[in-house]
Amino acid sequence: MQMFFKEGLARIGKFSTPHGDIETPTIMPVINPNLNFLTKEELKSIGVQAVITNSYIIKRTASLEQEALKSGVHRLINFDGPIMTDSGTFQSYVYGDIEYDNREIVQFQKDIGSDIITILDIFTKPQDSYEQAKSAVQETYRRLKEVNTSDAIIAGPIQGSVYPDLRIESAKLMSEASYLPIGGVVPLLESYRYSDLVNIIINSKINSDFSKPIHLFGGGHPMFFAFSVLLGVDIFDSASYIKYAKDNRVLYTEGTRNLKEIRDFPEWSPLFSKYSPVELIKADEKTRLKLLSLHNLKAIFNEITEIKERIYENTLYQYVEEKSMAHPALYKAYMEMLSHNLGPFWNISLKSPLYFFNSSTYKNTFIRRLVKFTEAYVRNGKRTILIGYRQWRHGFPVSEDILRAYETTDYNFLIEWNDIFIPMELENTYPVSQMVPSGIPHHNYRDEYVDWLKSINPEISFYDTSLGGDEKIRNYTHSKINEVYHFQFNSHNDLFLDSDKIIKSKATGHIRNIKRGDRIIATMRNDGFLTLSIYGGKLLNGMLDFPKSRVIVGGDSGEFNSQGFNVFFKFVEDCDRDIIAGNDVMVTDNSGNLYAVGHATVSGKEMRFYRKGIAVKVHEGIKKL
Ligand code: GUN
Repeated sequence: MQMFFKEGLARIGKFSTPHGDIETPTIMPVINPNLNFLTKEELKSIGVQAVITNSYIIKRTASLEQEALKSGVHRLINFDGPIMTDSGTFQSYVYGDIEYDNREIVQFQKDIGSDIITILDIFTKPQDSYEQAKSAVQETYRRLKEVNTSDAIIAGPIQGSVYPDLRIESAKLMSEASYLPIGGVVPLLESYRYSDLVNIIINSKINSDFSKPIHLFGGGHPMFFAFSVLLGVDIFDSASYIKYAKDNRVLYTEGTRNLKEIRDFPEWSPLFSKYSPVELIKADEKTRLKLLSLHNLKAIFNEITEIKERIYENTLYQYVEEKSMAHPALYKAYMEMLSHNLGPFWNISLKSPLYFFNSSTYKNTFIRRLVKFTEAYVRNGKRTILIGYRQWRHGFPVSEDILRAYETTDYNFLIEWNDIFIPMELENTYPVSQMVPSGIPHHNYRDEYVDWLKSINPEISFYDTSLGGDEKIRNYTHSKINEVYHFQFNSHNDLFLDSDKIIKSKATGHIRNIKRGDRIIATMRNDGFLTLSIYGGKLLNGMLDFPKSRVIVGGDSGEFNSQGFNVFFKFVEDCDRDIIAGNDVMVTDNSGNLYAVGHATVSGKEMRFYRKGIAVKVHEGIKKL
């Protein structure tokens, strides 16, 4: 599939099927072929792009089977967009053995013209023993291998119960399929075991082929959508809109309410101003079921629309943070998510500021990156000066006193920021000044942090105005650009010379360009990171080991990239696995000869999987030099 926008593991993407493209994230309503009461116009008016139905139910009902074989599944359920079919695995989990085997049911799905065909995987239950789950993972893979995957889109479910190593193994094996549902999770969803789900989704996602859509089987409740999408789920299916309607439950993104206990439908509802809850209670059962299903489906799609906007805006993480307070099970899931280091998949900066709430914010990827860098920074053993919050306030320039102390010593200077201390040179680098603090101190954390710093470098003291001398031995602005460079490119050597010219904005005083002679080396962006010119790229190319910060291209790509055109995924031969999405990279041949500089659209861990779309947005090609 193709990726257009991303935040963390979440993406807005496109997946193509014989009956049209699916823009993700999205949800496939479950259509019961026996009970198909919403028209395709009604479905599409709500935002439905694709649906899922069950080939096993069709096959075992003679009239449906005949009709499907004669006219195809699209005519049978009267939907002309993409249709995914499931295989009967779930029925076999609920009712025991079913009467068809894997090859038969896959062939049947092909015969009725399904767009996404599911093998008969083995459902792994949360209570399965390790041995049971392991053999189910292996048998599911065997079943994928026994079907012809070359003439259709085949879904190969990832199984493995709650065992992390089995989910990892299954994710790797099933990546041979073109579409990757995460299976065996319905019992966990039904019992609110969201923290187990977090682990399952993460293990499945980061060990599978990133270019394939990830589907969460049965994950149809909007409460957990944002979490799932942030962790990499692209597609959901949902039967819940009908299930709740049958129980007279009205769905909202935050939960459900009983039809008998609400005063009115919300304004976004397709029922608003057309029906009152009382009218609906009095209506016949069929009408009520249809109308409530329509409302419930709309609630689900509202949440998907919001999530897509959040990815685009880069505020999905914040949204998940908000959602985590809606239910203790979600809060537990949130804390579980924070226990994983998903940093490699996060962009170098976000369009949105960082919201600083409480101690859990310290586990945010951006703060982890800062703290890791700080650890290496103070490890040089030089005397380290801590500048308390009262002496340095975020958003204000460093005072003259501190500047003088800095420039007349070679000490490490750390500034207090949200009760941790970080290198002063990073004062404008995301998220340090792009942050909204709560202002509530976490003093316990501060002391713990200072103790930790002392354990790395005992030469630590707080700033006082007597520090420093008269002789200037360094320039703060120059040190700052080199330190940003060290942080951004994970390098220990300096890129910039003291003789390089730094041009600042007259209005704000912020660094704009860094020049050597009349050539621009780099520009400093609003997020405080550097954008390299091709000249800067050439300097960097001479400094970093191969393949650090490099994307290696083959075919005709190099020639185009040299002229300033973007790098397409299909030409990427290899890359540095530690590339951070959004960070500048050098585009080279396999010996390291430079073609261009640009920024990576995805991380180095994801890049080699994609085949469609842009891998590096090129700023400048070598021909410009
Ligand atoms: N529907 C809900 N869970 C599953 C699963 O694990 N596999 C399949 N094929 N369908 C499902």
